[in-house]
Amino acid sequence: MILSIESSCDDSSIAVTDIKTKKLLFHKKISQELEHSKYGGVVPELAARLHAVTLPKILEDAKAYFDDLKAIAVTNEPGLSVTLMEGVTMAKALGISLKLPLIAVNHLKGHIYSLFIEKEVLFPQTILLISGGHTAIIEADSFHDIKVIASSLDDSFGESFDKVAKMLSLEYPGGPIVEKLAREGDENRFAFTIPLSNSPKLAFSYSGIKNQVRLQIEKIDRNSKKDIADVCASFQKTATAHLLQKCKKYFRQKNIKDFALVGGASANLYVREKFQNLCREFDITMHTAKLRYCSDNAAMIGRYACEAYEKAVFTPLEELKANPRSTF
Ligand code: KG4
Ligand code: ZN
Repeated sequence: MILSIESSCDDSSIAVTDIKTKKLLFHKKISQELEHSKYGGVVPELAARLHAVTLPKILEDAKAYFDDLKAIAVTNEPGLSVTLMEGVTMAKALGISLKLPLIAVNHLKGHIYSLFIEKEVLFPQTILLISGGHTAIIEADSFHDIKVIASSLDDSFGESFDKVAKMLSLEYPGGPIVEKLAREGDENRFAFTIPLSNSPKLAFSYSGIKNQVRLQIEKIDRNSKKDIADVCASFQKTATAHLLQKCKKYFRQKNIKDFALVGGASANLYVREKFQNLCREFDITMHTAKLRYCSDNAAMIGRYACEAYEKAVFTPLEELKANPRSTF
């Protein structure tokens, strides 16, 4: 079995996965959303202090598996420097005390492996990663061959939902609440411009749309539920149209059979439905992770680590470091 740890942002999570069967034997996650909500976003130092309390608590519950462990896996990149350090330090301590090898896991690859929790891997696959930190088209051909094809020039898809929510004085994280309010709104009421729609570039940008929404919010009645719902719906429509436009462009260039949506924002049902329609148009099979494995979790880190273990990809203790800014 492998014990995996995730603390790249505001979720403390630990999982235990059976290496041979890939069965998830233990999985616990404590989110800090409530604690960060009053600040309208994640406060790194507060997040790190909370991980320092919650990770040892979760670990206590996983103790029954200690005798059967073969390795310790941990997210070491990318993420918030101070929060990554909490997980990395715990992994090192466990590696030393239990005399087990360490497996460093890239968080983005972890999101890809969220597709394969308790399942066999399926490659090649074209992946759209939409999270709070990233918006990227990724080609995943095998464990060793994963490359980014397109990424964001500025903000990410999930982050733009968080920022719109903050501008409307809604809670953090903004994604689920904006999606919920959008369901009641008129998505055609406000015409926001789709970013980079005239650019041939395969890239994403979310900073412009955020400013358009800000200007619109200044003109609406902040006490009107209808106005707020209409802003959410119109924003969500445009933000999603941007993803669809660029992916469509890529689908036209490449013969794709399997496409997957991963990352925290892939839990958005509006986005899932729109991509389902696009995939149907191109005769592509669409894959998604179970809703509970879309946002950050240790189960996906453990699933990736099972593959790493079988390929004997370990990280020497002295080389295990937190790399906040790395991609792949
Ligand atoms: O993958 P994740 O848990 O953390 C990162 O790796 O960043 O993604 C969190 C992000 C947040 O920005 C959150 O607002 C967004 O995913 N998110 C959503 C939805 N649920 C979460 N965005 C849009 N619609 C949702 N339903
Ligand atoms: Zn994530």
